[in-house]
Amino acid sequence: MKVYISNNTEALAVIAAEAIASVIERTPKPVLGVATGSSPLPIYRELSRRVGDGYEMSSATAFALDEYVGIPTDHPQSYLQVIRREVQIPLGLKADRVFVPDGRAADLSQACADYEKAITEAGGIDLQILGIGSDGHIGFNEPSSSLASRTRAVALMEETRNDNARFFDGLDQVPMRCLTQGIGTILEAGEIVLMAQGASKAKAVASMVEGPISASCPASALQLHPEVIVLLDEDAAAGLRFTAYYRSSYPVERWATASSG
Ligand code: F6R
Repeated sequence: MKVYISNNTEALAVIAAEAIASVIERTPKPVLGVATGSSPLPIYRELSRRVGDGYEMSSATAFALDEYVGIPTDHPQSYLQVIRREVQIPLGLKADRVFVPDGRAADLSQACADYEKAITEAGGIDLQILGIGSDGHIGFNEPSSSLASRTRAVALMEETRNDNARFFDGLDQVPMRCLTQGIGTILEAGEIVLMAQGASKAKAVASMVEGPISASCPASALQLHPEVIVLLDEDAAAGLRFTAYYRSSYPVERWATASSG
């Protein structure tokens, strides 16, 4: 993993935007995987700034990581709406090239199989943007998820529902289940960019980067992927023992790339 640590969020977002721009430039039909939540917002802001300056992203297809089960499609916190608001419109993507799992489907298993098929038919995800949950989830693959899992319906853990209650009018409004790309699905992306901020992520980030590969921390499966960029602020990086050592030993070339903050 390439780990960049800085409190300069804009500089970190530029690293992500450059990786995305490189995919868009070298791929005739680029496919992005997009996360919701607050972590990737600086990346979307940087991309949207570039689009405002004339940068063209309309050749891209996007697949969301997940969707709540049963949430009305017009609910402002449905990921269909969040992705439309924060990704599709600001980045100038074509509405019919932006996909979100169907959390309202009568047959959820079929909806998940269809989603996997749509990803395959689009040519697979070239670059996946991720956040990480305080319990180590990626997508909504909660602890104990199979590291080979595919898109499926899962139950959210209480910790995740508590974390997401800030987007709803109280905990009881947060759905109990969602559809999520599996860890196996995520690992098939060509490149992965994960962004995390804040002390509440420090433990999960340390397990992801330096811990054993384990279903106890689903994000640790990313250690198996050869092309992962991790963008952290100092608080989220606070639990990284080995990274801190390398950073102090090789401060300039390797670890200070984005440390202008
Ligand atoms: C969102 C997703 C989740 C979030 C994670 C962090 O589509 O799949 O894994 O990335 O819960 O959420 P934030 O960024 O809100 O802290």
